[in-house]
Amino acid sequence: MPKQVRIVDVGPRDGLQAEPATVPTEAKVELIHRLADAGIPSVEAGAFVSPKWVPQMADSEAVLNTIKRRSGTVYPVLVPNMKGFERAQAAKVTEIATFSAASETFSQKNTNCSIAESLERAAPVCAAGLAAGMRVRGYISCALGCPYEGDIDPAKVAELAGQLLALGCYEISLGDTIGVGTPSKAAAMIQAVAREVPIDQLGLHFHDTYGQALANILACLELGVATVDSAVAGLGGCPYAPGASGNVATEDVLYMLDGLGIETGVDFAAVVAAGQYICGVLGREPTSKAAQAYLAKAA
Ligand code: HMG
Ligand code: MG
Repeated sequence: MPKQVRIVDVGPRDGLQAEPATVPTEAKVELIHRLADAGIPSVEAGAFVSPKWVPQMADSEAVLNTIKRRSGTVYPVLVPNMKGFERAQAAKVTEIATFSAASETFSQKNTNCSIAESLERAAPVCAAGLAAGMRVRGYISCALGCPYEGDIDPAKVAELAGQLLALGCYEISLGDTIGVGTPSKAAAMIQAVAREVPIDQLGLHFHDTYGQALANILACLELGVATVDSAVAGLGGCPYAPGASGNVATEDVLYMLDGLGIETGVDFAAVVAAGQYICGVLGREPTSKAAQAYLAKAA
């Protein structure tokens, strides 16, 4: 079990990309500020993808150009191709995330290309990012199952993780895009991937559709993984993954890690407040059980 865990809050990107309502740029900026001020070391701030595909992220330039960046905090953005890289560079981004999928059908639906083509697109993006002094993270979607193809072979995930590592990614984030994993499956997938990529270069990116995300995270922490992606208030989803609900809530992860004596450097109450803020903008309640319980007790 790690002594410390690094939290990557993907709420401003993964959460807001799936919201039907348009969230004002100022609200995105305020959310990012609140998460960074709460001590989250990595706040995923936007996506330089095609605005025709994901209109919710069309204002990522404005977001990145408006936020006040705290020293010590990184603000990664999703980059699917060289056009996205150029936008990221113009916005003075220091960390980009390239993304691929362990399922051919999902790859086509999400990025209009095969898995092999996604790597061909990622290669120049990674090279350009590294040459520009950026850090490059790699995502693998459908690491525990696909909305179109069902079960995914851990060997496929491991192969792809090794390929992204070879392109220069410092970390591979393993996405349970539709939240179908269970602890033994998650552990088996991590064990397979760890044969290709050192365990300290793996991250967990679990959606909570079936309520298994915390259990899956615990199973993978026990194997030594020490980076967890989560979304404040449990926001999240992918427009190209039917049935997928939010990421595991940051508040729930923090509560569990605190109980395990694992340090994050993140202020739980400040994240709860950030969740209340964005839920107020969205007109909904936080899905986080820990946030709900904390707020009920405080009231
Ligand atoms: P395409 O349609 O095959 O590409 O899309 P294209 O090159 O033909 O471009 C189509 C149009 O988009 C063109 O404009 C391009 O200029 C423009 P037009 O000539 O028609 O006016 N375009 C761009 N504009 C701005 N920025 C760009 C860009 N690229 C092209 N970067 C493409 C291919 C990859 C671009 C598209 O499929 C795409 O943007 N996909 C992204 C979908 C997405 O963002 N999905 C959600 C994120 S992934 C996720 O949530 C999973 C994750 O959380 C992990 C997990 O949970 O598993 C990461
Ligand atoms: Mg996701």
